[in-house]
Parts: sequence; C-alpha cells; structure tokens
Amino acid sequence: MVSRVIPVDPFDLVIFGGTGDLARRKILPGLYRRFVAGQMPEDARIIGAARGEMDQAGYQAFVGEAIAEFISEKKRDAETVAAFLERLNYTPIDARGEGGWDALAKMVRKEAITAFYFSVGPGLFGDIATRLHKHKIATPESRIVVEKPFGRDLESAKALNAVLAESFDEHQIYRIDHYLGKETVQNLMAVRFANVLFEPLWNAQYIDHVQITVAETVSVGGRGGYYDKSGAMRDMIQNHLMQLLCLTAMEPPSKFDPDAVRDEKLKVIRALDAVPTENIVRGQYGADGDGPSYVEDSEDPESRTESFIAMKVDISNWRWKGTPFYLRTGKRLKARMSEIVVHFKETPHSIFDEDAGSHANILSIRLQPDEGMDLRVTIKEPGPGGMRLVDVPLDMTFADALGPEAADVPDAYERLIMDVIRGNQTLFMRGDEVEAAWAWTDPIIEGWITRGDKPKTYDPGSSGPEDALMLLHRDGRRWREISA
Ligand code: BG6
Repeated sequence: MVSRVIPVDPFDLVIFGGTGDLARRKILPGLYRRFVAGQMPEDARIIGAARGEMDQAGYQAFVGEAIAEFISEKKRDAETVAAFLERLNYTPIDARGEGGWDALAKMVRKEAITAFYFSVGPGLFGDIATRLHKHKIATPESRIVVEKPFGRDLESAKALNAVLAESFDEHQIYRIDHYLGKETVQNLMAVRFANVLFEPLWNAQYIDHVQITVAETVSVGGRGGYYDKSGAMRDMIQNHLMQLLCLTAMEPPSKFDPDAVRDEKLKVIRALDAVPTENIVRGQYGADGDGPSYVEDSEDPESRTESFIAMKVDISNWRWKGTPFYLRTGKRLKARMSEIVVHFKETPHSIFDEDAGSHANILSIRLQPDEGMDLRVTIKEPGPGGMRLVDVPLDMTFADALGPEAADVPDAYERLIMDVIRGNQTLFMRGDEVEAAWAWTDPIIEGWITRGDKPKTYDPGSSGPEDALMLLHRDGRRWREISA
C-alpha cells in the first residue's frame, strides 16, 4: 500500500490547556505522529498556553515526557523527538483576565494559518474567544477548535454558539467529535457512497434494523465529578452515537463537502422520533473484585446517573420508517468494542428446503478494536448431500486487505487537527446540528428527572442490565455479542 501524506501550509497552532490531560494524551502525541509522517511544514509551530508559569524548555520537557508515554519506542528516536520539540513554545495565559495576551499576540504570526485549540472546559470558551478577538490575535481566517461537551442541554449549547459567534464566523469554528475522525467512520461513507452495491438496499425495504454499540471496559473512576453531571446520554449518545447514526442513516450528500454532508446529518436528527420511556434502558455498574461500583466512583451514594444506556430509536422519514436503530453504550462492560451493524432482511421467499437453513446478510463496521468491515453472505456448504446453506464472512479487515501498514491507522485526533489546518470542516459539527441533537436529548433527560427514574444495576464485565436484552427480545431480535 502506498501511503499518501498531503502536506499542509505553514501554521501556528495555539493549544489553550496546553498542559492539560487531553493535550498530553492526544493532541501533542498526535501532532508528533504527523510530524514523523512528514506532514508538518518546516516552519509549523505549536504554542502551548496555560495558567502555569513555564518557559520554552520546561514545556519541551513536558511534551517530551508525553511522547515517551504515548508513542511506542519504535516510533521515537531521540533525534526525531528533538526536532519535533524545536517546534514548540509556551506562553502563560490568564483566560479570564488580561495577563499574557499581548505576549501571545507577539508570538503568533499573522501571515501563517492560525488555529486555536480550546482544550479547556466550556466555561472558558467565551473568555478565550473574546480575548483572541479583542487583542487582534485572530484574523478572519483563523480557526478555533472546541472540544466536547458542547453544552449540557439546548439552552447552554445555544448560549455557547452565541458567545462564539460574537467573535468568529461559523466557517472558523471546528466543534470536535473525535468519533468522526476514526478511520472506519469515514470508511462507512466510502462504502455507502463509492460503491453501487449497498445504496439501493440501504433502506427500510431491505434493512431489518441497525445496531450501534460503543462498549467500554473502563470505569468512570477519576472523572466521577464530570461524569456524574453528564452520564452516558450526554457523554456518548448525544454526540458520538448520534454522529454514527447520522452517517449510517443520512441521504447521499451531493458532494463530500462540509455543508452538503452536515445538511444531510441535520435532516436525520430532525427526523428522529421522541423516544418513549419503554424504549430506553438505563444502567449503573455495581461493584466486583476488580473495582468499586458506580456510586463509589462518582462519590455520590444517591447518584442516579447512568453509566449504561440502551435505546430503540425510530426515524420518521421515507427511507427508514419501520427500521429501528438500536443504540447501546456503557462503561465496565464485557469488552471494549465499537461497531455499527446493519442487519438486512431475509430473502422474500426461499427456494430451498426449510431445513437447508437461511441466514440474513449482516454488514458490520468495526470501529475498534481491529478496524474493519465484515459482510456475512450465505453460500452452499461445500460437499455432497444436498443443499445446505451456511453464512460465511467476506472479511475486509484492513490489515489483511491492504497490508500491515493499514493497521497502523492514524488516531482520530491526528486526522482532525490536520483537517483544521487544511480548513476542512466536513468532519466537524455545525452549530445547528449540535443544537438539534440537544433538542432531541433534552426531553428524554427531563423525563427521567421528573419521574425520578433510577438506573438498573448491572454486573461489571457483563453486557449491561437484563432489560437491555429484553429491548430487542420483545421485537424478536438479539444484540450482537460484546466481544473484543
Ligand atoms: C469521550 C467520552 O468523549 O469518549 C469518554 O467522554 C469515552 O467517556 C471516550 O470513554 C471514548 O472514546 P474512544 O475513542 O476511546 O472510544
């Protein structure tokens, strides 16, 4: 396989929260990998900005440690790391006051592409945006990158959009949902729209139902404070699973261009039905020998926040009426596994004996681990003795098909940061899209609060509460096994 690295123009990237956890784990190691791939032009520069006092050497040491921790030894020889660190600088900044902004203004080049990554809590988005504008650091071509959570309901999301809009145009705002940067998620669009095979069947006439699962083994330990105010609905469904649903369900856009794609996603969100209570199962993990329960992790013995959710979602449009989308996500489950699985309908009539066996086609798109796709088709079981049918995988594991290099897929953040520099918003959420997602989510959460609903306890290492299985059983369907 020939890997193609498309160079980008010179840039200055300022990371607010440059010493924070996200910067350390994802953004800086991601930039290092792009540097190794040869994608960073000679004079591209990265400026960390945060509250603490630190000089350039101090920041270089901090980033060097992050690289040592998050980049495998094979990919980091001392010389390359040193060359990368040369690109880094640091400036202390007071996001809520005036300190540090003039110094930042002097550091940032006006003639380069400038991008400002808000790797900070949403409470600071407005302050930073306003000061970038006021101190004339940002130009009309600058980009700002904002992390999730983008609000915690429709009202707060609207307020955030409004405060950003005071200083930046929509074409400058990059709202990150890192699931959109995952390789297989983009592949879903390639499979749907670059092949003639699937699209004619991609509707309620041929698809029985769709399952979207994002299962994690991790607990919320260490981030209980944030998580407890959020829960699986706000943390995962409103954004990541919603985006996966949109890309699966949307109409073909006329072009692979930011507004064409985002217009189609928005139409899907607006076509989602309100979800009745009986179509949602919420869960909270209990304790086991390997770890504490959710309430212990959250440090609130009364917590009613869900660490698991399963729901049946109906889309009211011509393409999907009658084909449910089942969404499921949770912490401390059996395995780390994310996939979108499209279950096709059975053939309308079988010409074979009943005991030959019949199998509906299944297309599964695996986001992690082992990114790839698998289409199950029915064939004749080899050998004499009549027609016996068996379903076999048409496996499209990238590493097998494209060589081992393909298994080394870039992290979602790498791809997305480079898209910011290129000025490509296709894989970022538009303001109206985020608001529409909250407009659908809010009444669900309000319903739980009004009724005082409690989540069901589930065993860590399981597939979630029993009721989640029933959600499909009662429709005569079954969840796919959660397995790595
Ligand atoms: C984050 C959520 O956005 O996504 C986390 O806040 C979650 O709770 C994480 O663990 C999952 O991301 P990934 O890429 O590991 O599947």
